[in-house]
Amino acid sequence: MVSRRSVITVGATAGAAALVTTATAAAARGETPPRAGGPHAGHGAAAHQNTARGAHLAAAAAPFTVRMPIPAVQQPVASVGNTDFYVVTTRRTSVEILPGTRTEVMTYDGKFPGPTFKVRTGRLAVVVHTNQLDMPTAAHLHGGHVPSSSDGFPTDVLVPGRSRVYNYPNKQRAATLWYHDHAHHMEAEHVYRGLAGFYLIEDPAQAELRLPSGDYDIPIMLRDARFADDASLVFEPDDFENRNTILANGKPQPYFRVAARKYRLRFLNGSNLRTFALRLGNDTEVAQIASDGGLLAAPTPVRGWAMSPGERVEVVVDFSQFPVGSQVLLQDAQAGPVLRFDVTRTAADRSRVPDRLSSIASPRAATNERAFTLSLDPQTFQFVINGQAFDPNRVDTEIKRGTTEVWSITNGDTMFGIPHNFHPHLVQFRVLDRNGQPPSPGESGYKDTIAVAPGETVRIQATFGDYLGRYVYHCHMIDHSAAGMMAQMSIVP
Ligand code: C2O
Ligand code: CU
Ligand code: CU
Repeated sequence: MVSRRSVITVGATAGAAALVTTATAAAARGETPPRAGGPHAGHGAAAHQNTARGAHLAAAAAPFTVRMPIPAVQQPVASVGNTDFYVVTTRRTSVEILPGTRTEVMTYDGKFPGPTFKVRTGRLAVVVHTNQLDMPTAAHLHGGHVPSSSDGFPTDVLVPGRSRVYNYPNKQRAATLWYHDHAHHMEAEHVYRGLAGFYLIEDPAQAELRLPSGDYDIPIMLRDARFADDASLVFEPDDFENRNTILANGKPQPYFRVAARKYRLRFLNGSNLRTFALRLGNDTEVAQIASDGGLLAAPTPVRGWAMSPGERVEVVVDFSQFPVGSQVLLQDAQAGPVLRFDVTRTAADRSRVPDRLSSIASPRAATNERAFTLSLDPQTFQFVINGQAFDPNRVDTEIKRGTTEVWSITNGDTMFGIPHNFHPHLVQFRVLDRNGQPPSPGESGYKDTIAVAPGETVRIQATFGDYLGRYVYHCHMIDHSAAGMMAQMSIVP
């Protein structure tokens, strides 16, 4: 349920966003932030960017003073035959996000963001989760093709003090997935407070392509956050306009040192509500190589790319085009600079971006069609799908296992102008069209999350294979899904 106040807030978002854009555009324009200034360096620009209440601390921190970390890789506790065993404990801890302060966060294994899983196609990962929080959790592997009992259904929770096993077969192509909490009504706050991490599936075929790898393959989780004066994270549902601090791998506007060579950058938008529209340097051309479900058929050159919450975009950037000593900004259209790449050295580079990356089958004939409309109910001010808020006891969509379906997703919120997106569990889908037009090259591969702007209709196609049972589909602006914009499908024999 959303309050009337938050509805008005949502309606005003476009206006507020425009103001933020103006302020940050001014800040971004021609302003080369000092390399390592004192606490007031760059004050003019930063202060404009964070005029919202409660953001003073973030404003006081000069940009590009902290290094962007790479989330630690989770090591298996045992490997037996074809199975790797992992343990993860969910608990509160405090971490340094804003320089010189501590912020209490919710974590997987004490890390913010959570540790990165690196698994192989065809090897089973068994992950034992222990919940040491004071509230239930439900671990979900976003983009994973997993049995219902391991999918983190919102009411299939892990209660405080207990452990449970999640099985991830990894019978799917290499891709940048992520895992995050999904506990009923709490997922928005839990993810916001830190319960999210990368889950990278690799396969040998991918290794043969000789894309940049190892130290030159970097996952980057971007998200926004709102900090109080005491550096605590402030969570209010639908509080889009006050979440003005952008974090890259958990740090505000960090720098990252790179060699003058090619890098694979795996971007994830881990925000609850914010859509990023990113560009690098002076609209530098980069090669998009992958979307949510892994490699595209062929690299596609882009000078910018958008990501709604939950989406992943992978690009290869050739930093050899910049002289050593260059500073290359990654900028968002609204938030301004979010990350700075410092080209500090040369390095050998035998990686490449082949013309063909993967084979993507053309969509099969569909045997069933459905339509879903996402909207804010103007009477009840609830976020709904086809007029109904999520009810874990109601099956909304029954699907015969093995069926290929076409789903027409419409954002019906033209009145309030609220952006939404759409994410079904269990499947990777193909985008057939957006408002009747073919998808862009970057949306022509496998996807599991798709942006749907107000008034738009996107048609997607998926085959619901292998597993039976219940799964959810929802808007991945998770303040919306936590407030009802979610529904349940049941895969039946
Ligand atoms: Cu990121 Cu229900 O998912
Ligand atoms: Cu998911
Ligand atoms: Cu939504």
